[in-house]
This record gives sequence, structure tokens and C-alpha cells, in this order.
Amino acid sequence: MFARVVAATASTAALAALAACSPGVQPPPSPSGTAVPTGPASSSASGFDSPPATPGPSATPTLAPTPTGTANPAPAAPMPSSPAASAPGRKYSLTDPASPWVVVNKHRPLSPATYVPGDLVQPAVRLATSGEATLLNSTTAAAAERMFADAAAAGVVLTLASGYRSYATQAATYNNFVASEGRAAADTASARPGYSEHQTGWSFDIGDGGGVCSFQPCFAQQPAAAWAQANAHRFGFVVRYPWMFHEITGYYYEPWHLRYIGVDAATDMRARAVVTVEEYFGLEPAPSYL
Ligand code: DAL
Ligand code: ZN
Repeated sequence: MFARVVAATASTAALAALAACSPGVQPPPSPSGTAVPTGPASSSASGFDSPPATPGPSATPTLAPTPTGTANPAPAAPMPSSPAASAPGRKYSLTDPASPWVVVNKHRPLSPATYVPGDLVQPAVRLATSGEATLLNSTTAAAAERMFADAAAAGVVLTLASGYRSYATQAATYNNFVASEGRAAADTASARPGYSEHQTGWSFDIGDGGGVCSFQPCFAQQPAAAWAQANAHRFGFVVRYPWMFHEITGYYYEPWHLRYIGVDAATDMRARAVVTVEEYFGLEPAPSYL
């Protein structure tokens, strides 16, 4: 699993078609103070994070060479970990989906599974999607507005490519992914219904102004992704599925998927060089479903 590249599906938010993405994506530049793990050249997320209308062309998972030339390293390769993980005081609930610290992953489904945030709003930002996907919970929306404005002032265009997703939308998203890629590949990139942060309103996917590399590994090299990697914490966001931490988060790298946890926590994570919320909050890794 470490070396497999899911040369797979991607999508732009509105279109919902699946497109191939190229294997062998490189990790993004590491901003100072942020841990970017090293290790075998790995996968990247297949991207697609938004509901497709119809499954697209199937892509075949391929193997990417590691730095040592090994095509398929042992699955027991050491799991990366952030160097200074430690749990902060439990200021907010880690289980209440209305909490900014709720941790949703393959071990921690939403409860209730069909949770709907009570304060969904459309942020005043540049949209690259429509319908419910333009919505965020009110706290996340306000933070997104501040962040998008700050990025724009720095000459970087961010777009909201996919925000809130209902349980039903996530089911459609996941099922289309399974139909296109198979269940195993789908599980590396798309959450099963009831297991997606998108359903909380605390998460959204960004694009850049031109839609370059949307939901594809090469998005990591786009200015929008680089800016977000370096600055999102100032607005309370973390890149939720960092490079090479899929054995902890359960998902391949998604440089576009931001998650609000609050400015203090996001800044503290960065200061400690902790890159997953599982580690930060002292939770077990969630590489696969229980
Ligand atoms: N792509 C993320 C894991 C989701 O489907 O929620
Ligand atoms: Zn996402």
C-alpha cells in the first residue's frame, strides 16, 4: 500500500467526472516549521473528493518506485509519525460533530451517522461548485472568508471546490468511486457515508483560480496549495490528510482538503510539527475500517 499510486480518479467539483492523474507526484515544498515526512515514494490520493454524476474511466493502480528502487516495499514499513505529538487539554469534544475538535476517521464515524449541521451557510468566497457543496458551518465559513481574502491580498486565488456533503451525497460519492476504482482504491481517497468530515461542515476542499490540477496530486505544486500549506493555520485550518501519513489518517495525501480546528490548535500543531489530528489529540491511527 505504501508504494501504490492510485493513478486514479479526480474530479473538478462541479463536473463530477473522473479523470486520470499522474503517478509519482512529489511532495510539496516544506514550509519551515512543518513536518513533511520522508520515506518511500508513495502514493498520493487519487484525488476525487466530490460527487461524480457518473463513474468515469477506470484507472489501474500502479506501482511507484521507491527511492531505493523497490517497487513494492513491505507493507510493514515503519509508520511515519509526527515528531512531537502530544494531546492538548480537551478543550472541546472529540466526538460531538458540532465541536471544532471532532475527529472523524475510519475508526470514528459520525454520531449520528446522518448528522446535519444546524448552521450551514454559504461563505462569501469564490465558488467552484454549486448546491450544498457551497455550504460550511458558520464558524468555518467565517474563517474561510478571512483566509480567502488574505490569500487574495497575497495574489493567490483560492476557490471553494467542495464543502458540506450530506450523508446521501457522500454515499453517492463513495459508491461512484467504488464503481470506477473498486472498493480498496475508493477507501484510500473517499470516506464511506457517515465517515466523512465533509458532513460536519468543518472541512472543505480548495481549488485554484483556473482549476489547475483540481483534486489531483499535482495540485500540491499549485500556488493555492503552497499558500494553504504555509498559511492555513493562521485561520484555524490544517491540511487534514498530509503526505505520507495515510497509515494514520486512512487517506492518501489531499493537499486540497482543509479542516477547521481553530487558530490556537492549528498554530500549536504547526509549532509542535504535528501534522495529523489523530496524533495531536492522542488518538489511535485509523488506517482502515474496524
Ligand atoms: N476525501 C475525504 C477523505 C472524504 O471523502 O471525506
Ligand atoms: Zn475533502
